[in-house]
Amino acid sequence: MTSLPKPRGPLSDLVTSALRAVPGEPVDRIDVEPESADDAAVTLWMLHELLYGGFDEVDDRAEWEPELIRVRRRLEDDLEAQLRERWPGPPDGADLEADFFDWVADHDGPSLARHVQTHATEEQVLDLLRVRSVYHLKEADPTTWAIPRLPVAAKAALVELQYDEYGVGDPARLHAHLFARGMEASGLRPEHGAYVDESPAEILEQNNALSMFGLQRRLRAAAVGHLAAFEATSSVPSRRLAQGLERLGFPDEIIGYYREHVEADAVHEQVALRDICVSLVQEEPHLEPDVWFGAWACLDLEDRTARRMLAGWGVPA
Ligand SMILES: [Fe+2]
Ligand SMILES: [Fe+2]
Repeated sequence: MTSLPKPRGPLSDLVTSALRAVPGEPVDRIDVEPESADDAAVTLWMLHELLYGGFDEVDDRAEWEPELIRVRRRLEDDLEAQLRERWPGPPDGADLEADFFDWVADHDGPSLARHVQTHATEEQVLDLLRVRSVYHLKEADPTTWAIPRLPVAAKAALVELQYDEYGVGDPARLHAHLFARGMEASGLRPEHGAYVDESPAEILEQNNALSMFGLQRRLRAAAVGHLAAFEATSSVPSRRLAQGLERLGFPDEIIGYYREHVEADAVHEQVALRDICVSLVQEEPHLEPDVWFGAWACLDLEDRTARRMLAGWGVPA
């Protein structure tokens, strides 16, 4: 179980108090605007977390408290509006199946993996593991929400992919658990949410967008588009990260986590694109723009995180 993160402004402060007060009187209307990207991001992260593992000090009934759902929707709408405003739209004349991987490869953002491979210090890598743990310790969970929203062929393929992420029936091979073991072996805390307080808004926004895409049926195509881009940008960076961790003498458990993803995600990217995204669009052609939107959001949010982390270390992006 997870502890509530520290508030980052008036909205997260109010929502934290409301969460602690459930059950009791219904939550009063919360009309405070987020003061900053940090305030908005940590509030939405907390409200999403109610649908995953919850918090030690919050009653599970908070998950369906109407006023908290209203705040969540408002923050999700803001996040989606910001993403859609930055999005250039689907690439002109591109064919999803034929052109997707080239489109991903043409995207030229700053690479944290390249920095880790060649130059990062041990401190920088520990920083990165801490903030990445916000995602990896519940790896694959946000995409699982999309399963019941997909037509039959895409659903079968997503379940096959998730089965791998969840360790093919062996809890010791569950990816989130592999990461937890790697954290522990590296002297870091393996509990989910342990490092939310030190995670910048960019990291929380990555996680919030994933949860939002999974939790809103309307955005199911963005959820699987995000997955395809995520898997397509995982295999090579995972190899670079593993090499960087080896260079710095990190323990086998954490290197093994990244090694596992070199081969697994080279397969997953094919399944995610062809068997999930393309097959979804064959059934529901009007959803194609949102596949591109979700994929673009994955790349955009990762760029922002990379820039933020590199800037924090004084490394040019
Ligand atoms: Fe994985
Ligand atoms: Fe994967």
